[in-house]
Amino acid sequence: MAGHEAHPAYVWWNGKMVRWEDATVHVTELGWSTVGAIFEGIRAYASVDGTQLHVFRLQEHLERLERSMKLVRLRQDYSVDEITRAILELMTANEVTEDTYIRPLVYSADTSGKRFAQTGASEAGFLINTAPMATHLKTGMTMTAKVSSWRRISEDVMPPRIKNLSNYRNSQLGSTEARMDGYDTAIFLNNRGTVAEGPGACLAMIKDGVFLTPDVTSSILESITRDALMVLARDVLGMQVVERPIDRTELYTADELFTCGTAAEISPIISVDHYEVGDGKIGPVTKALEAAFDDTLRGNESRFEHWRTPVLGRAAVGV
Ligand SMILES: Cc1ncc(COP(=O)(O)O)c(C=O)c1O
Repeated sequence: MAGHEAHPAYVWWNGKMVRWEDATVHVTELGWSTVGAIFEGIRAYASVDGTQLHVFRLQEHLERLERSMKLVRLRQDYSVDEITRAILELMTANEVTEDTYIRPLVYSADTSGKRFAQTGASEAGFLINTAPMATHLKTGMTMTAKVSSWRRISEDVMPPRIKNLSNYRNSQLGSTEARMDGYDTAIFLNNRGTVAEGPGACLAMIKDGVFLTPDVTSSILESITRDALMVLARDVLGMQVVERPIDRTELYTADELFTCGTAAEISPIISVDHYEVGDGKIGPVTKALEAAFDDTLRGNESRFEHWRTPVLGRAAVGV
């Protein structure tokens, strides 16, 4: 981040690097502008020796961004290569040196007020912004969870597998209920009554040494972290990995349980509906996965180097 400002110097907006102060829209745009909008949440991590930042699974995030745009019918004005370049240039312009969250957001720029139909015919706005985000991996952070009385949105309502901003009203309902009832997070069941995911993260459990996670037709977002952890569980820890519908009471009898996602990383859950998970502490497999994931993110694990995109020009900013 340049200087000592509380925000980065630049955002990338509609093909240009724009100074933070100048990236404004009119107040009357509040309202419909984000109903059909989609976004991505991506993270960049400093390498172990602190000399370089790498974006984690950038290609996969941008491919999902394209799928999201396709599903909500937003006009696609930029290729994955162009967005990749924009993100790397933005990080350099903002002199980013610490672990960072990167958020591309695409929205309908149609200001005619006729926003029910989003057909892809009208202009789309494209914003990318960055913000510092510290890791909580290996810090010992734990969460308590409640199975929400709200169900997770399903394919027959709006597509859960993509990152449409409107989907997150469902997340807010579950999070608010959980927090007001004294829990840290919510776990949603889907419309079939099996486990879906958390408000902003997928879910995985360990039972008898097996890594279990709801399958992609369980009303979950197609999570890139979930995919990465399945690979690490299989290839680094040598575990059996199973994607299948999971029943509510399987959560209560799990040996270990955690949410996973770009923001959540791995967030251990130590109780669900006041049922202790395992012995109520972070379990050994979760700890091993946290270590393997941290090694992967920071370049300590050479097998998954292809998941890391170096941020160009960091040396040029004198770090
Ligand atoms: C609803 C929801 N589920 C799951 C995830 C995890 O997805 P990913 O690992 O791709 O970040 C997210 C975002 O982080 C999310 O918002």
